[in-house]
Amino acid sequence: MKGIILAGGTGSRLHPLTMAMSKQLLPVYDKPMIYYPLSTLMLGGVREILVISTPTHLPLFRQVLGDGSELGLDLRYAEQPQPAGIADAFRIGARFLGADPVTLILGDNIFYGQGLSELLQTSMRDLIGCTLFSHTVRDPQRYGVAEFDAEGRLVDIEEKPARPKSSEAITGLYLYTNDVVEIARGLAPSARGELEITDVNRVYISEGRARLRSFGRGFAWLDAGTHDGLLNAAQFVQVLEHRQGVRIACLEEIALRMGFIDADSCYALGRKQQNSGYGQYVMTAAQAG
Ligand code: TTP
Repeated sequence: MKGIILAGGTGSRLHPLTMAMSKQLLPVYDKPMIYYPLSTLMLGGVREILVISTPTHLPLFRQVLGDGSELGLDLRYAEQPQPAGIADAFRIGARFLGADPVTLILGDNIFYGQGLSELLQTSMRDLIGCTLFSHTVRDPQRYGVAEFDAEGRLVDIEEKPARPKSSEAITGLYLYTNDVVEIARGLAPSARGELEITDVNRVYISEGRARLRSFGRGFAWLDAGTHDGLLNAAQFVQVLEHRQGVRIACLEEIALRMGFIDADSCYALGRKQQNSGYGQYVMTAAQAG
């Protein structure tokens, strides 16, 4: 399984914050936003990951994350010259993917909850086409909404429906078998000129190869793409970290727990940042693990 983080786009809802800076590098409390989707992929056991962003911002991601080897990862980078849609990721990533299945995660989506790692790994093992993840939301009209039958099979996805058939919004985390590359290649751009991920998903639905897994109430799904979303996400992370004394999306700690690096390497990574609470936390995690 390979991973793609889609971290381009215009970030226009966050203007003027994103006039010069990439949305996915803005801080979510104590770390750059991209740490959160990257940590989700790592918890799923994914180590070969392609980061896609704009030509202007891609070098900044490289500066922040490097080639990933210190975390036991293989990170690659690719440009998306125009925001041509989420499904464009599979065209850009075709060579990188080779014959492998893929987990795509949007760079501004934050997932948190017990059992996330297990849920992802099980879903990857059971993959027969596409697996989408949904979460209950108060305002489904703003999202892609899942319609499913009595057996929980995905029947349709409605984009921003006026009268939603459920409150289950499709999140920015998607698992696909390798044929997604061919499917994306065959798509025509939508009226707004983008390759729509919903069109990809509808192909799998029509073939009866689309699964939906609902994150339960115990999970948090946050989209940091608006000013309130960004602040809410930061406050969520702050409250949990202060209260519990653990850090969410600490890449070094996750790499250690997943067995990607050993305790000595983890400690050394913490030491490099020892002036920050983050670095000290990494050093403590390495000593405990
Ligand atoms: P959006 O939040 O839908 O778009 P955006 O980031 O451009 O923001 P705005 O609506 O405020 O203008 O995108 C979801 C995620 O996917 C986000 O991480 C950006 C990324 N993305 C790309 O990288 N390329 C694209 O072509 C699109 C449409 C999105």
